[in-house]
Amino acid sequence: MSRLIRLDDFFLFLDKARAIGLRRLVGRIFGTDRERVIDSWSHISSDRSNWWDLDDVTRRWNKLITGNAALAYQHYVAKKYLHRRKGLRAISIGCGTGRKEIGWAETKKFQSINGYDVSGPRIEIARELARKSTWNDQLSFMVGDVFELDLDPGSFDVVIFDNSLHHCSPLAQAVDRADSWLNDDGIVVVNEYVGPSRFQWTDDQAVITNALLQLLPERLRRRKDGRLKDRMSRPGVLAVRLNDPSEAAESHSILTVLEGRFEVLELRPYGGTILANLLKDIAHNFSDDKQETQEWLEFLFNAEDRLIALGRIPSDYVFGIFKKRNLKNSKSVN
Ligand SMILES: C[S@@+](CC[C@H](N)C(=O)[O-])C[C@H]1O[C@@H](n2cnc3c(N)ncnc32)[C@H](O)[C@@H]1O
Repeated sequence: MSRLIRLDDFFLFLDKARAIGLRRLVGRIFGTDRERVIDSWSHISSDRSNWWDLDDVTRRWNKLITGNAALAYQHYVAKKYLHRRKGLRAISIGCGTGRKEIGWAETKKFQSINGYDVSGPRIEIARELARKSTWNDQLSFMVGDVFELDLDPGSFDVVIFDNSLHHCSPLAQAVDRADSWLNDDGIVVVNEYVGPSRFQWTDDQAVITNALLQLLPERLRRRKDGRLKDRMSRPGVLAVRLNDPSEAAESHSILTVLEGRFEVLELRPYGGTILANLLKDIAHNFSDDKQETQEWLEFLFNAEDRLIALGRIPSDYVFGIFKKRNLKNSKSVN
């Protein structure tokens, strides 16, 4: 159930103040929506204790999305949807530090990949990474807001939203803009959180996550600061909005809006409903190669897979490929 305020907000506030400093946190709270979004995305490093920091999790995503644990989705998409095409033009909205775009460049399908992000510091890192890579000629990174970009209609073959569409509100407007930038044979690639809006995780999710958490040995539940994690945190809507007004604003409607606007070529749910919250702040404990650790991780992966397969929980993360709908004389994207 959605709640404006929850008890956990107090503890989340303390954690955030510890992480970024009380002064900056208070400044953020009293900033405008835009200032808050930009400030919340000005960090360029993390403490590497989230589920996305684990190689095993990346391999799991690859397996669920591409069918091959060693195959990243960029190469899978290039092979399956772009294989007769070259010299393509892509735009990536909310590109952050540009790592995913380097993955796209490695497919050798693109003459240009333009990444845009509202965060200046992230764009700086993306440019530096591009310069150090062998793909600098193909990559360009610019500060830009999806709602303010002035781009020619039909000028891109691929529009990418990688964990950024859930930051776009009004969602329908962002999706309309993506549609207008796409040429007739173009595709939209979406790798997204599509779970409860404003992170209002369900009671079901919390009960299952907490029960699984309690089964783990203490060494796997230890946060980096030494505190033991015995349950997941659940923020209220207000705390989420105050920290980052763009956070999961309309995430729950993403699939409905995309399906209404585009033709679906492929949808691959890859979980996260339990794992994202369970592993938050403790993921670093799962990076050793002890057999027991690996078995616990496998157990958690299996538990989430089985619960989704049984229809007990939905998938909070989805990878999808979409194309323009109902076009006369449209050629196949293949
Ligand atoms: C979760 S991060 C994803 C970054 C990157 N795509 C990745 O997968 O690593 C979301 C990004 O969206 C950016 N963002 C948020 N609102 C935006 C907007 N209105 N226009 C462009 N970028 C935005 C943030 O600055 C942040 O870098």
